[in-house]
Amino acid sequence: MKLTILGGGGFRVPLVYGALLADHAEGRVTAVTLYDTDAGRLAAVARVLAEQAEGIADAPALVATTDLDEALRGADFVFSAIRVGGLAGRAADERVALDLGVLGQETVGAGGIAYGLRTVPVAVELARRIALLAPEAWVINFTNPAGLVTEAMSRHLGDRVIGICDSPVGLGRRIALALGADPARARIDYIGLNHLGWVRGLHVEGRDLLPRLLADPELLGTFEEGRLFGADWLRSLGAVPNEYLHYYYFNREAVRAYQEAERTRGAFLRDQQEGFYGLMKDPATPALATWDRTRAERDATYMAENRDAAGAGERDDSGMDSGGYEQVALALMRAVARDERTSLILNVRNRTTLAALDADAVIEAPCLVDANGAHPLAADPLPYHAVGLVTAVKGVERAVLDAAESGSRADAVKAFALHPLVDSVSVARRLVDGYTEAHPALAYLRGR
Ligand code: G6P
Ligand code: MN
Repeated sequence: MKLTILGGGGFRVPLVYGALLADHAEGRVTAVTLYDTDAGRLAAVARVLAEQAEGIADAPALVATTDLDEALRGADFVFSAIRVGGLAGRAADERVALDLGVLGQETVGAGGIAYGLRTVPVAVELARRIALLAPEAWVINFTNPAGLVTEAMSRHLGDRVIGICDSPVGLGRRIALALGADPARARIDYIGLNHLGWVRGLHVEGRDLLPRLLADPELLGTFEEGRLFGADWLRSLGAVPNEYLHYYYFNREAVRAYQEAERTRGAFLRDQQEGFYGLMKDPATPALATWDRTRAERDATYMAENRDAAGAGERDDSGMDSGGYEQVALALMRAVARDERTSLILNVRNRTTLAALDADAVIEAPCLVDANGAHPLAADPLPYHAVGLVTAVKGVERAVLDAAESGSRADAVKAFALHPLVDSVSVARRLVDGYTEAHPALAYLRGR
């Protein structure tokens, strides 16, 4: 089986390859093609993968190319993990927003919209190319903002594109472990949009254990999201939100913490990765060890500003010890390729799952996965406040998709202005001014 990775020079590709190396079963991936627009980054990552494969007899064969069509032909699976504008673009997204007093995170609020406006046209072009050259391939989208980008691609690929994120699985695992339950045997009742969902129950052998957790402040203090949101607020919600909801529920504090930070997350990662890819130009650099050290530093500083704002202490990434998004991707590929029926939390089209959204709206929900793809499981309705957030943000995503299609500046202003974390239409206009100035890739936003 051939897997093609778009954005193959990306920093997290070795995580995926590491997961593939541990898979020795029938029907596994035997060939990996890395595609990237940047040959230097491709070469750097290829060196890391080569070291990972040392001594493993059945390691998937590697090809690296800057030719998209060559990469796509014959692919059974395509992972899309691109970053339009690079990490410098991410840092600019944050800066423009923070200077106007609003959030610039890469997936939430103004920053997510700016990143979406840059990424959607590119993702759509890729989707068109895949539909033409590898119409049978399954496409797994990792590219953020993952829900929005998956929806854009689904307009060309239908249900053959599935979006993934590791935060719901990680959250479910952390809750299960806090309760002393086996994560593998727990059914997690989670639903929403990507980076905008809630765990409403954790069922083991037919019993919901979440009420016990919510009633116990001490237990709530034992895991990341419990500390981030605080026991009182979680009890009020009657659910445990995805960590990204910290940006909504504690928006002022999060914005202030990011404004006061010495460097934004994007700027930190931009500098960190410049260092990594720079070192990799020297053939004497030990590739795997250097990559691993850089990755550990990235993991340890993840969402540090939010934790500071909440007084939540050091990062605890239990729940990720069995692997993050690469494991979700591998489980998904296995289920589809070998018809191993399983359930996974994925980004797919809504159909009739959430009554407030139309059938084509991409949501994040537990899905039944087999050779026929991923199908969302029936879910209880969300409470009104969650319906409000989910529909408001879906409205924003639709405005982004409209703007990407029409090239209309007014549609872009509408996307920003409708976001619950942008508090004025005039701020939205200034955001569009700031972003079009910062990003040549947004020059397509013209006219009304
Ligand atoms: C989590 C999120 C991803 C994000 C990743 C890395 O896993 O779910 O969407 O890409 O963190 O975040 P970072 O800030 O390190 O780029
Ligand atoms: Mn994610």
